[in-house]
Amino acid sequence: KKIVLAYSGGLDTSVILKWLTQKGFDVIAYVADVGQKDDFEKVREKALKTGASKVYVEDLREELVTDYIFPALRGNALYEGRYLLGTALARPLIAKRQVQIAEREGTNLLAHGATGKGNDQVRFEFAFYALHPDAVVISPWKDPEFLFEFKGRTDMLKYAEKFGIPVTASKSKPYSEDENIMHISHEAGILEDPDNSPPEEMFSHTLSPQKAPDVETIIEIEFKDGFPVSVVNLNDGTVKKKPLELFLYLNELAGKNGIGRVDMVENRFIGIKSRGVYETPGATILWAAHRDLEGIAMDKEVMYLRDMMIPKFSELIYNGFWFSPEMDFIMAAIEKSQEKIDGTVRLSLYKGNVQPIGRKSPTSLYNEDLSSMDIEGGFNAVDSLGFININAIRLKAHNLLLRNHDPY
Ligand code: ARG
Ligand code: SIN
Repeated sequence: KKIVLAYSGGLDTSVILKWLTQKGFDVIAYVADVGQKDDFEKVREKALKTGASKVYVEDLREELVTDYIFPALRGNALYEGRYLLGTALARPLIAKRQVQIAEREGTNLLAHGATGKGNDQVRFEFAFYALHPDAVVISPWKDPEFLFEFKGRTDMLKYAEKFGIPVTASKSKPYSEDENIMHISHEAGILEDPDNSPPEEMFSHTLSPQKAPDVETIIEIEFKDGFPVSVVNLNDGTVKKKPLELFLYLNELAGKNGIGRVDMVENRFIGIKSRGVYETPGATILWAAHRDLEGIAMDKEVMYLRDMMIPKFSELIYNGFWFSPEMDFIMAAIEKSQEKIDGTVRLSLYKGNVQPIGRKSPTSLYNEDLSSMDIEGGFNAVDSLGFININAIRLKAHNLLLRNHDPY
């Protein structure tokens, strides 16, 4: 029985790998490179040593940027007003490639190491079923036998020792992390008390704003149809155009300037509240820049309708409904809304802040003469008399009602 396991090289998935082989599975380890800092050759070796019959290491970084991160930012996705969804966006892609590998290997058995209390299990499994209706999912962290054998970390460490699975000391941080090209999340352990401030040494994708340079970095980002197509650093003239390079470069600039840290308590899909600390450098800049460009290039009513969709769009991503009919529907609406979102935004990056300081657009709806306080610009101020009178009818009626029934 062949099974494809999403394998990270960490303690949990290594124990799971070995455990599956002991249950009689022929385990194919699948390692997704989504930009986490890791030595993938070591991970490959470890998988083979732990009993995998075959290992796939897949570089998914480019696809993550072009097909997941950019489309999410194009719709201004932001969960509960703060979380840019770095982990949630990578899961459907990881799952998609896993299904493709399973198909190539001629199996419908898929396994992952996400716990039974979190969001990731849901995201993986929804994507498996959406892309492979005959998928059979083995989720050890929801398997009574596995749970009986492994009651905690100590049991896993003992098991690892027994089977010669190397345990890396670097993995023994007092919190849990998930890293990819978009972000790193820090959760659990010492962060479980929501009143415990995160220790500075925990941060790895961003410098603290206090240590950021005393000079601001000025950049320009150009968008076409709501997608970023170039970044220019006006301090030194650096230009980046290819999606992956552009995104990596923004990560570098934002990281150096202390941009993209968020510390919050969020609501997991299953209803549990959870404290998370995130570092999302480059995407924080892109979110601000894109939103700013819409200010000049997007129609008011389209924007208000689209803004109503942001919480839902973000929730769908968070809850793992990337591959779903409702997501296709929202994506089509976002696509339409972005047809004229072209132009360039200039931004100042300085000590944790990203501040738009100028924008221009070939599809601009902004009319300087109309907006001006000094020029008439074809606008007849007398028209505003009627506009105000008619809109005030309702307010007067309401006031009369209050006076007659419930005086102020
Ligand atoms: N709370 C975040 C989310 O649900 C981050 C999850 C991190 N996942 C992990 N396996 N450490 O998207
Ligand atoms: C996990 O439970 O595996 C990580 C946390 C989450 O999925 O939310």
